[in-house]
Amino acid sequence: MAQKNQILKNTNAELLDKFNASVMFDKELYAQDIKGSIAHSKMLALQGIITIEDQEKIENGLLQVKDEIESGKFQWKIEDEDVHMAIENRLTQIIGDAGGRLHTARSRNDQVATDFALYVQDKTLVIQDKLKTLIKTLVNIASKHTTTLIPGMTHLQHAQPINFGFHLLAYANMFKRDFERFESSYARNNKSPLGSAALAGTPHNIDRFKTAELLGFDEPTLSALDTSSNRDFALEILFNISTAMMHISRISEELILWSSYEFGFVKMSDEYATTSSIMPQKKNPDVPELLRGKTGRVYGNLISLLTVMKGLPLAYNKDTQEDKEGVFDSVATVEISLDILTAVMDTLIINTDAMQNACKIGHLSATDLADYLVQKANIPFRTAYYITKDVVKTADKLNKDMSELTIDELRDANENLKDIDEEIIEYLNLRNSMNARTSFGGTSTQRTQEQIDIFQKWLETI
Ligand code: ARG
Repeated sequence: MAQKNQILKNTNAELLDKFNASVMFDKELYAQDIKGSIAHSKMLALQGIITIEDQEKIENGLLQVKDEIESGKFQWKIEDEDVHMAIENRLTQIIGDAGGRLHTARSRNDQVATDFALYVQDKTLVIQDKLKTLIKTLVNIASKHTTTLIPGMTHLQHAQPINFGFHLLAYANMFKRDFERFESSYARNNKSPLGSAALAGTPHNIDRFKTAELLGFDEPTLSALDTSSNRDFALEILFNISTAMMHISRISEELILWSSYEFGFVKMSDEYATTSSIMPQKKNPDVPELLRGKTGRVYGNLISLLTVMKGLPLAYNKDTQEDKEGVFDSVATVEISLDILTAVMDTLIINTDAMQNACKIGHLSATDLADYLVQKANIPFRTAYYITKDVVKTADKLNKDMSELTIDELRDANENLKDIDEEIIEYLNLRNSMNARTSFGGTSTQRTQEQIDIFQKWLETI
């Protein structure tokens, strides 16, 4: 019995409050809650549902509550249950009866949906801004490295020479898609839930278009029944953040590899590298490792909400109170992740010599020989492939990269090459190989520059 008393040390009421309340986390929505309530009160006054005097009292009272919250004076109490009740209770304390009129023609169901939708829209813009800064940073570094050779890889094996700018622009493309994904979810979800009330609308003569306009939404949502339990907008931001974090994680993985002794392509500035508590010689890539690691938690938040929503009958169910913490966490995580990745990239020390030297390993211009034979000697690609394989063997035997073979060594490598023109040497040169890839979107310096120009133009439009 002693043990049971220990566990049930709260009274029943306290236990319920503790379990049921969301105020300790949904207070994050205070600004959106107050904005939504001011708009609602204005609409009620315009429609003659409350008096102008009451509306003014409500608005001034809400602004005072906002001040109290922002100056840290506001008392958040678990008995208030959630942010909506906490603010309404305090408002009524300050302005009396008029406070009680605010909740006319709405329910907490449409109120919370409105607050949360406003929050998601606000944060979408913040995240887009940070993505823009990151893309700018990547494009800027890329513009300085359109001639810096680096081994392009497939299967993490040396494949073909590319330039470092071209490599970074691949990430700029990923983050651009992220930006556009946020842009489209913003547009799709820019609808006001307010006035849907509990689930079926209200008999009061409200003007939902007015509140939508006052809140910066394009229009009200169409179905009250759908609206009160719709959390697609929250799922969309969670998915968009997850995808952005996946991209952040991929570039982080490359930063980790590149800063290893074996690659030595980059060094993280001392400001963003950490040391080991036991091995004084070490410089660790904790920052990209954390970026990679946090991605896991962000995916978890998406899966959590998908799971919460699965199987909910219409309309509002308290399950959806579980929608917020994961979104707050993912938003905060992607915000700091974008900031820190931008800072890491901005201060990255790039070892161009190590990148260029690495290109001399792995016969990166092998495909150029095959392409040459196809173009100049009209040999079928598959035959050219096998001829080139012989050249790779010869180069390996001589302990050379294919780009370092002499014309005689090449001619001896395979029967079909015995008369090959001396110009092939130029084709196997690594820089020429990179510059030969002139198809749209290819790695040649000129095409890379074109990509940069396209990015810069786009950046001016957003
Ligand atoms: N705190 C609640 C939530 O986040 C607000 C809505 C409560 N509505 C209700 N009918 N119990 O979902």
